[in-house]
Amino acid sequence: MLIFDFTDFPLLQTERLLLRQIIKEDANEMFALRSNPEIMKYIPREMPKNIDDAVKHIEFMQGLLESGECINWAICLKEDNVLIGNIGYFRMQPENHRAEIGYMLGPEFQGKGIMQEALTKIINYGFETMKLHSIEAVTDPENYASWGLLEKNGFIREGHFKEDCFWQGKYLDSFVYSLLNK
Ligand SMILES: CC(C)(COP(=O)(O)OP(=O)(O)OC[C@H]1O[C@@H](n2cnc3c(N)ncnc32)[C@H](O)[C@@H]1OP(=O)(O)O)[C@@H](O)C(=O)NCCC(=O)NCCS
Repeated sequence: MLIFDFTDFPLLQTERLLLRQIIKEDANEMFALRSNPEIMKYIPREMPKNIDDAVKHIEFMQGLLESGECINWAICLKEDNVLIGNIGYFRMQPENHRAEIGYMLGPEFQGKGIMQEALTKIINYGFETMKLHSIEAVTDPENYASWGLLEKNGFIREGHFKEDCFWQGKYLDSFVYSLLNK
């Protein structure tokens, strides 16, 4: 059984990016991301209605971080340290040495290799530091950008679940991907 301890939040860097802890001062940027229908199109989660909802979401994630049930990094450009996206592990399965990865990026920053850069770092952190054996990812079959990114990084589509997700009155399909630490 793995034990995840994020007491000292891991600050990570790539060539262009800072991957840091999400704090309450990021609420405006988190609100802009999570209330954007374009970004949330394939993410079956309630959108915040206002900044207060975004603060509550950050606090909720902070609680999960403290109990080792989730870790979510703010993706920032090094030059200004402003949150432009996020990436992290949730739905941890410490008994299986497995966790699910999730990510999102502001539309104006997409298509520039930013998530590729962040994902490479976070996969490495998952395998090397968290000692995961496998990383899971779940995407909507129509979310070509997301599963294109996963396949580029060696994730294998292991399942196509039919109508397993009930969201806003509809049953949605899911692609389930996995990457093994070889
Ligand atoms: C998925 C997402 C994170 C990709 O981020 P990004 O920074 O634009 O991706 P990158 O520029 O790093 O692209 C890396 C690879 O991903 C794939 N990819 C990215 N955008 C794509 C698109 N629109 N169509 C197909 N493949 C795409 C490609 O393989 C690409 O490699 P390439 O440029 O060599 O072709 C971004 O589109 C996003 O935030 N979408 C909304 C939120 C979301 O759906 N999150 C996932 C929920 S499961």
